[in-house]
Amino acid sequence: MKNILITGGAGFIGSHVVRLFVTKYPDHQIYNLDDLTYAGNLENLRDIEKRPNYHFIKADIVDENRISGLFEKHAFDGVIHLAAESHVDRSISNPTEFIYTNIIGTVNLLNAFRHIWGNRAAGKRFYHISTDEVYGSLGNEGLFTENTPYDPRSPYSASKASSDHLVRAYAHTFGLPVVLSNCSNNYGPFQFPEKLIPLAINNIRNNKPIPVYGKGENIRDWLYVEDHAAAIDLIFHEGKLGETYNIGGSNEWKNIELIRLLCDIMDKKLKREEGASARLITFVKDRAGHDLRYAIDSSKIQQELGWRPAHTFEEGMEKTVEWYLENEQWMRNVTSGDYQKYYSSQYEKR
Ligand code: NAD
Ligand code: DAU
Repeated sequence: MKNILITGGAGFIGSHVVRLFVTKYPDHQIYNLDDLTYAGNLENLRDIEKRPNYHFIKADIVDENRISGLFEKHAFDGVIHLAAESHVDRSISNPTEFIYTNIIGTVNLLNAFRHIWGNRAAGKRFYHISTDEVYGSLGNEGLFTENTPYDPRSPYSASKASSDHLVRAYAHTFGLPVVLSNCSNNYGPFQFPEKLIPLAINNIRNNKPIPVYGKGENIRDWLYVEDHAAAIDLIFHEGKLGETYNIGGSNEWKNIELIRLLCDIMDKKLKREEGASARLITFVKDRAGHDLRYAIDSSKIQQELGWRPAHTFEEGMEKTVEWYLENEQWMRNVTSGDYQKYYSSQYEKR
């Protein structure tokens, strides 16, 4: 029997990973450690919360004593570390929080893992989940590979890059059994509506302007979240120690084209006249330091581990829009209270 710690399991991607592990590995004990910040929501896990192999721990990864105590108590054999401050715009308005959680929090987990396993770490594993944003920004050509030099350009990506370096440094210096992955933009159910796709779905639903930064020319490589969770499962179990795997959808979209597609889908679902939702598109002041283009070369994970995205973009978007429309109460709950303050502070002056 194994004790697996998943940090950030009440967030968007983490909740999909927890669900997958709890249902697929009933003989393993799955511990979801999350501090339930604005982005963490236990409603994301209602369907599996009563499973006997699921355990929730409310804790802040920045709290060193708490984290080391939890490792001593539960002797986690495997760690899948997703907890992070994850939104670029928030890192521009409040960078310091990102330094604490993404850097200090990761170091606390590394230290606690090292402390309990020391040189008895054979068969154990520390898996750090990172982002393609650490590689910087691409021009019109090229793809990020695992060998692309790091060039983070926002406080968020700089904090993630720093945590990646620390994970690799602990492997090199202390022999920690680590594996890493860097993924492109995820979309799907349970994503907090500060990120482009759920924010746009919510605004279209409520006939509010859809804020598109700059001219909408920036490009992202979109992957359905369950395909990321499947890749995480594969890397956790079969990835080679010390290696990094890039994960992406090979699915590049200019923001404005993505939003137009979303508007068409929403018109059909909401039975609105053609073009009604697109009239809500509003170009607003650009994000400071806005990276132009991200795109991933995922041939390594495809060739070495046999991973492929199982969802086409059409299927993923269809499932995503349907989920948000069927789960209006979830959206109402997460957009009450502090979300309104966040929204005004980000968008009223743009
Ligand atoms: P999210 O913001 O939806 O969730 C983050 C979770 O971490 C929340 O549940 C939050 O409560 C928890 N958390 C935050 N600070 C914490 C702390 N100090 N202690 C304990 N828990 C804390 O994020 P997400 O989009 O699900 O991203 C998860 C991970 O995947 C992050 O590490 C992110 O960098 C990475 N990633 C995200 C994407 C994407 O497109 N969303 C793509 C590639 C990589
Ligand atoms: O690439 C992986 C990264 O993808 C993850 O590491 C991050 O955690 C995740 O937040 C995401 O970062 P982005 O900045 O790419 O995602 P976001 O949804 O914030 O923005 C997507 C694009 O849409 C980006 O070019 C900015 C633009 N945008 C975003 C918002 C919120 C808008 O035009 N309008 C908006 O209101």
